[in-house]
Amino acid sequence: MPTTRQVLLKSRPHGPAGLDNFDMREAELPALADDDVAVRAIYMSLDPYMRGRLDAEKSYAANFEVGAPMIARCVGEVTESLNPKFQAGEVVVGMMDWADHSVVAGGKGIAKVDADLAPLPYFLGLLGMPGLTAWVGMREIGQPKEGETLFVSAASGAVGQLAGQMGKIAGCKVMGCAGTDAKLAYVTEELGFDAVFNHRTDTDYLAAMQRICPDGIDVNFENVGGAMLEAALEHANNYARFIQCGAISQYNLVGDQRYGVKNLEHLHRKRVRMQGFIVTDHWHLMREFQVEVAGWLKAGQIKYKIDITEGLENATQAFLGLLEGENFGKKVIKIGPETVS
Ligand SMILES: NC(=O)c1ccc[n+]([C@@H]2O[C@H](COP(=O)([O-])OP(=O)(O)OC[C@H]3O[C@@H](n4cnc5c(N)ncnc54)[C@H](OP(=O)(O)O)[C@@H]3O)[C@@H](O)[C@H]2O)c1
Repeated sequence: MPTTRQVLLKSRPHGPAGLDNFDMREAELPALADDDVAVRAIYMSLDPYMRGRLDAEKSYAANFEVGAPMIARCVGEVTESLNPKFQAGEVVVGMMDWADHSVVAGGKGIAKVDADLAPLPYFLGLLGMPGLTAWVGMREIGQPKEGETLFVSAASGAVGQLAGQMGKIAGCKVMGCAGTDAKLAYVTEELGFDAVFNHRTDTDYLAAMQRICPDGIDVNFENVGGAMLEAALEHANNYARFIQCGAISQYNLVGDQRYGVKNLEHLHRKRVRMQGFIVTDHWHLMREFQVEVAGWLKAGQIKYKIDITEGLENATQAFLGLLEGENFGKKVIKIGPETVS
C-alpha cells in the first residue's frame, strides 16, 4: 500500500495557535473505491479561515478533527482514478488533505484546471477562492461607482489585491493599509492604490484614514475587523457600503480579548449598508468570475503576487506566520513538482 506524509491537528489551541498544536505522520493511503480519485499535491493554499477550523466552536466551515489530517484547497495531479470524469495526468483543484497524496472520495468537489488561463498557484488565489471572494464582495455588496473612495484593509493579501484593483477598474480612489513598508510600496507602485498607511506603525487608524481618505469612505472592504472596522465606520460617508469579508485581527483571540466595536450607531446615522458573506454561497459564479478576471490579467489590467513556501514540512510554520502578517501576497505551499506525467 502506498504511503504519504500528512499534517494532523494534534490539539486545539486556546488563544494563539502554536507549532505544538500540529503533528506530521506517515500514513497508508486507502485503496480506491468506485469514483474515487488519487491526487498528488503540487500546491496547497493556506487561508486565514483555517484558524477557525482549529477550534471546537461551530463556524461556517466544519471543524478539523483532532488526530485527523487537516484539509486545504490544493492543485494537484491525478495519479489514479476510478472516476470516469478524471484521468491520470490531469491537473485538478479542490479540497484535499494537508499531505503529499490524497484520495478524494467520489471525486467530490474537485474540478479540472484550465492551465491556459494562468500559472497553477493562481487557481488558489487570483482565480480561486480568494479572488472569487474579492469579486463577489465588490460586485454584490460594494457596488463601487466612479469617483468614490474605496478602503481595503490587508491590502496586499490574497483577497485585498484584487478588491483594490477592482476599485481602480471601477474608477474609484483606492486607499488601504498593510503591515510593512514593502507591502505598501507594492500596492501603490504595482497595483495602483492611491494612498495607504502602515497599520503596525500608524496605530491611530482613524487619524490615518482621515489623512489618506480626505473625502471619507464610500466602500469599505473589511478584512481586519476590530479597531480597523471601528475607524472605518467613524470615517464612513452617508450611504457607505461595508463589505464584511473577515476579521483577521480577531481570529487568535478568545472571549473578552476580542475587540468590541463601539460605534455601530453609525449604521443608522449614516445609513450604512453592512453585509457579511461567505464565498462558498457564491461558488456557482466561479466560471463567470474566472473568465472576467483572467481577461483583466491577460489585458495587463491587474497584477497578483503569490508567496510560495517550499515543502509540506514547512506548512504549519507558514500558516502561523500568515496569521501574523508574515506572508507577502497569497500564501501557497509548494508540495511537489509541477511537471505531470
Ligand atoms: N468571507 C469569506 O468568504 C472569506 C473568504 C476568504 C477570505 N476571507 C477573509 O478575508 C481576509 C483576508 O484573507 P486573505 O486570504 O486575503 O489573507 P491575506 O490578506 O493574504 O493574509 C492575511 C493578512 O492579514 C493581515 N493581518 C494579520 N493580522 C492583522 C491584524 N491584527 N491587523 C491587521 N492586519 C492583519 C496581514 O497582513 P499585514 O502585513 O498587512 O498586517 C496578513 O498578511 C481574512 O479576514 C479572511 O478571513 C473571507
